[in-house]
Formats: sequence, structure tokens, C-alpha cells
Amino acid sequence: MHPRSTVTLNTGREMPVLGLGSWELTRDTAGTVLHALDLGYRMIDTAVDYGSQPGIGDGLARTDIPRGELFLVAKVEEDDDAYDATRRYLDEMRQDYADLVLIHRPPPAGVGTELWEGLVRARDDGFVRDIGISNYTSRQTEELIEAVGEVPVVNQIEWTPFGWSQDMLDYCQRRGIVIQAYSPLTRAERLDDDRLQQVAGRYDVTPAQVLLRWALQKGTPPLPKANRRDHLEENLGAFRFQLLDEDMARLDGLNEEWSALGGSLQYL
Ligand SMILES: NC(=O)c1ccc[n+]([C@@H]2O[C@H](COP(=O)([O-])OP(=O)(O)OC[C@H]3O[C@@H](n4cnc5c(N)ncnc54)[C@H](OP(=O)(O)O)[C@@H]3O)[C@@H](O)[C@H]2O)c1
Repeated sequence: MHPRSTVTLNTGREMPVLGLGSWELTRDTAGTVLHALDLGYRMIDTAVDYGSQPGIGDGLARTDIPRGELFLVAKVEEDDDAYDATRRYLDEMRQDYADLVLIHRPPPAGVGTELWEGLVRARDDGFVRDIGISNYTSRQTEELIEAVGEVPVVNQIEWTPFGWSQDMLDYCQRRGIVIQAYSPLTRAERLDDDRLQQVAGRYDVTPAQVLLRWALQKGTPPLPKANRRDHLEENLGAFRFQLLDEDMARLDGLNEEWSALGGSLQYL
């Protein structure tokens, strides 16, 4: 596995196994995106409330990498008209299309059928390649599938050894949904955990690299965000070692449904 390795989505399209998160990536966004692309990152995750879309557009405009080799993930908000909003966000990034557009979170009422339908129209008109969801429980996902007659390609959820779910993983695998792991570095809040550091010590790598490797080996593409260039580079170190089964089990055992965003995680 390397940064340009891909996973096959249930539509047959390929998605990189690693992405650059861009929440609050607002300090020299274009420069950071360009640097990440130079290092080998190929997927970029964004949403309108991250404040990073214009900078991502600037970065993409400056790279020589063909657009077809990049993978752009955008999100629509619960009160958006999904079709118009996607067009608007793409304009903001000066892009003709997004590879993947997600419903950012289920709306307060229902499961987002209308949002999904807007995204289907955007896909029919050629400016969205694939459609997915984010922050959906398995129950909400089932309801949506039943309503729209289609299976999302991705569910982007918070996912680390400190907060994950075997049941959710089994459910998504059964349905052919790829889990994209957000806040995969725990927003740097749990990097000093002794048990995590012990695993890192065994491989002479950093806790951040262990967290990303765990996500890669689980088959759940992580989206680490890093403003710092040394962090961007360090995080690619996750491709340079392999966790033994016993250490994957140790990391799995850290699960306490902990969330970096506050509260506890709800998967089912
Ligand atoms: N769908 C959703 O609802 C949702 C919610 C949350 C996040 N996301 C997505 O997931 C992405 C990642 O999540 P996140 O931004 O919440 O948190 P994260 O990626 O878990 O953590 C980011 C923090 O970790 C630091 N960091 C990065 N690499 C490091 C390293 N090697 N060693 C030590 N610290 C390191 C960063 O510092 P520097 O920036 O200073 O380098 C930053 O403070 C987001 O940017 C966004 O794209 C989606």
C-alpha cells in the first residue's frame, strides 16, 4: 500500500486510501494543498463550513497533476438545496466536478431523501461522480437506502481506536459502503496515551503514524488534517510499516466510544 493506492467503491470507481482533511486548514491553504500533492496525497476532503474551499481551488489551479488523478470530496449541508449548493461549492473551488459529494449529516427530520435526490440530479448532469453520506448511523443508512433505492458509496464518520464499532464495520462491509475515517488523529488529543505510545515504540514510529496505520489496515481510509508541513510528511510514514495482528488487537481494545468532538459516538 502507498499514498496513491485506492479502494474500489460500490460503483466501480476508485478512491485513494488516504485523504487530506481541510477543516480549519485556513493558514496558507493553497500552499498546504500544493505541498501535500507534491508529497503524494491525492484526495482532499472539504465542506463549506471548513473555510478552506477557496484556498483548495487556488491550490488545485496551481498543480500540474492531471485532475483525473485527484479525488475531491465535498459536502452539502442539511438546509442546502443539494443541487444548487454543489454547483456553488464547485464554483468556489473553480472545479467542473467533485468525485464524491456527501450529505454532511442527517437532517433533523427524515434521513435526507431530498438531499440525495438533488445529488442524483447533479450526478446526472455530470458534476458529481459519486454520492455518499456522513455522520449516519447504520439505522439511518438503512432508512435512506430503502427510501432512495441506492447504496451510498461512503459513510464518513469519526473513527479511531478510541472510538470505533465492529458492528458498524460489519454493517458497512455487508452493504459495500466504505468508511472514511474523520478526525483520525483524535485532533491530537490522545496522542500521548501510554498504550498508544507503547505500540508506537515497538515499531519506532510516532503515535500519529500508528493511528493512521490502524485505519489503513482496517480498510477505512483516514483523512488526517495537517497545517504543518512536517506533520504532512510524518503522516505518510503510515505507509512504511505494518502493524502485527496482536497490535491491531491491542489498538482495537482502546475503544471507549470516545469522540474528539465531544459526547460519545453513536454508530447504530
Ligand atoms: N464529516 C464530518 O462531519 C467531519 C467532522 C470532522 C472532521 N472531518 C474531516 O476530517 C478531517 C480530519 O479531522 P480533524 O481535522 O477533526 O482532526 P485530525 O485530523 O484528527 O487532527 C488534526 C490535528 O492533528 C494535528 N496533527 C496532524 N498531524 C500530526 C502529527 N503527525 N503529529 C501530531 N499532530 C498532528 C494537526 O496539527 P497541524 O494542523 O498544526 O499540523 C491538527 O491539530 C477534517 O479536517 C475534515 O476534513 C469531517
